Amino acid sequence: MEIAVSYLSSYYSKEKTIELIENTSANYIHVDLMDGGFVANKNFTTEEVIELLKEHKKPLDIHLMTFDPIIYIEELSGLNPEYITFHLEATKEVIKTIECIKRRNIKVGISIKPNTNILELMPYLPLIDLVLIMSVEPGAGGQSFIKDSIKRLEELVKIRIDNNLNFKISMDGGINNETIKLVPNLDIAVSGSYVCKSNDYETQIKTLK
Ligand code: DX5
Ligand code: ZN
Repeated sequence: MEIAVSYLSSYYSKEKTIELIENTSANYIHVDLMDGGFVANKNFTTEEVIELLKEHKKPLDIHLMTFDPIIYIEELSGLNPEYITFHLEATKEVIKTIECIKRRNIKVGISIKPNTNILELMPYLPLIDLVLIMSVEPGAGGQSFIKDSIKRLEELVKIRIDNNLNFKISMDGGINNETIKLVPNLDIAVSGSYVCKSNDYETQIKTLK
């Protein structure tokens, strides 16, 4: 299983947190962007994200918790991210958004909130590279893992097998050394506070792998 680390909640500054993540065995830096509309919190502007990550070494896994994802995709594509993931609930222009990401040779992810029916993803699954299942309500780090996510993962794995598809499955929210054991079929686990609110990032990451 691959690990993406979110620097949203940390004991250190964002700059220091990113430097610490870069020096671990994490596979990706998970970049959370909140607009204060799609989710109540607003964190960074795209300019701040670009400034913070312009010299990144690890691949970026960008998670847009925003309305109008296309605006953000255009602005953030210069960072050359591995994935850009937007929320199915955030736009009516899902196909247009997928195409906008693909055109820039970036892998496409779609994320769903805990109460969105998995079956709503069906029309898009053959077109995308990643599904990000939210295991908390998006908008803040440090929340508890919603147990129903285990069933949702199994449902999506079955859909993938039955339809002979090969998108990756990622999960985000409340992932720690205990909850990770409940979701062994994940391809990528996103972890924030479990890693970044510790004094030894690498030790925490090793317990997830
Ligand atoms: C939540 C964000 C997550 C968050 C994860 O809305 O999308 O990426 O930072 O943090 P933890 O692991 O603390 O739940
Ligand atoms: Zn996230």
